[in-house]
Amino acid sequence: MKRRIGILTAGGDCPGLNAAIRGVARAAYEMFDTEIVGIADGYRGLIEGEWQEMKRSQFSGILTLGGTILGTSRTPFRNMRVIEDDNVDKVSAMKKNYAAMKLDCLVTLGGNGTHKTANLLSEEGMNVIGLPKTIDNDIYGTDFTFGFHTAVDIATEVIDRIHTTAASHGRVMVIEIMGNKAGWLTLYSGLAGGADVVLLPEIPYDIKEVIKCVETRAKNKKSFTIIAVAEGAMDKKEAKMKRKEREAARQEEGFSGIANRLAKQLSAEMGVEARAVMPGHVQRGGTPSAYDRVLSTQFGVHAAQLIAKEEYGYTVALSGNIITHNKLSEIAGIPKLVPPDHQMVQVARDMGISFGI
Ligand code: F6P
Repeated sequence: MKRRIGILTAGGDCPGLNAAIRGVARAAYEMFDTEIVGIADGYRGLIEGEWQEMKRSQFSGILTLGGTILGTSRTPFRNMRVIEDDNVDKVSAMKKNYAAMKLDCLVTLGGNGTHKTANLLSEEGMNVIGLPKTIDNDIYGTDFTFGFHTAVDIATEVIDRIHTTAASHGRVMVIEIMGNKAGWLTLYSGLAGGADVVLLPEIPYDIKEVIKCVETRAKNKKSFTIIAVAEGAMDKKEAKMKRKEREAARQEEGFSGIANRLAKQLSAEMGVEARAVMPGHVQRGGTPSAYDRVLSTQFGVHAAQLIAKEEYGYTVALSGNIITHNKLSEIAGIPKLVPPDHQMVQVARDMGISFGI
């Protein structure tokens, strides 16, 4: 049995992509006669026909490497069926290039958008297998995505380092953690780093409650406060607005990120020294943690096992410590957000952490 496998990585990068690519490749080479085609920069390479035959040696030495050896890009799902100014029919182009590469199957490593397009390609008759990656951990049907734990480790280290300087100066430090729609990364790193306030996109905050928390700490002789805020957090008023309306209101306000806004508000309204910290893409860079290396490898090998059985139209998942797979059609397009009554939220509340409500 010979299998010709196309691999692409799409969407924002994260640690563990190369470990997962290596997992797919090594297991495939071990299990069956394999040829691998590397597609450049995610769906862009599939649309534009940019790909290369990979050698087995190219999958060596990449376990610990951050980023992706294949390159990545964001090709929004909402535009996949739209013919834009370049006049390219993207779906037809992808089908044509899949056939030109003579693929038996396509492995797509990515987040929510990537999975929606993977499902579309599967519906269009391609043999597709997805692998769930993202530091946001917001893919439905899997307990964890790879990349998430490494980002939690990095964000926690940021909070730890900020903690000591906050305590020395008696400052309020507002740390902006990545996550536009999902607050998992902020929740985990906030709990791990001992943040006093955790603000998530899923739980709109009231600035008065945040102020109350800083005041209560000051009364209790705590000279500093650590606030972990997800980049997509919003206040209660904003949460009632439609997206466009919120964007317009923020433009008028001169909004330059949620951490900056909070630091300014706290300084102005309380007279405290408040500073914003934005670790940004540091959270997505560098070598994957041991946990993510193991998870990525397990996911990659599971994909190869599915290919061996010619079982397509699935994405690999972790469910209660078991590596399994879900139908692409059943998970694509469903974001996994933090339920406001999630057990971890309750744990944090019981620890006295404020969610700003
Ligand atoms: O999806 C991962 C993520 O890092 C989000 O947390 C963040 O909102 C977004 O990507 C940033 O995207 P970009 O790197 O394209 O600015």
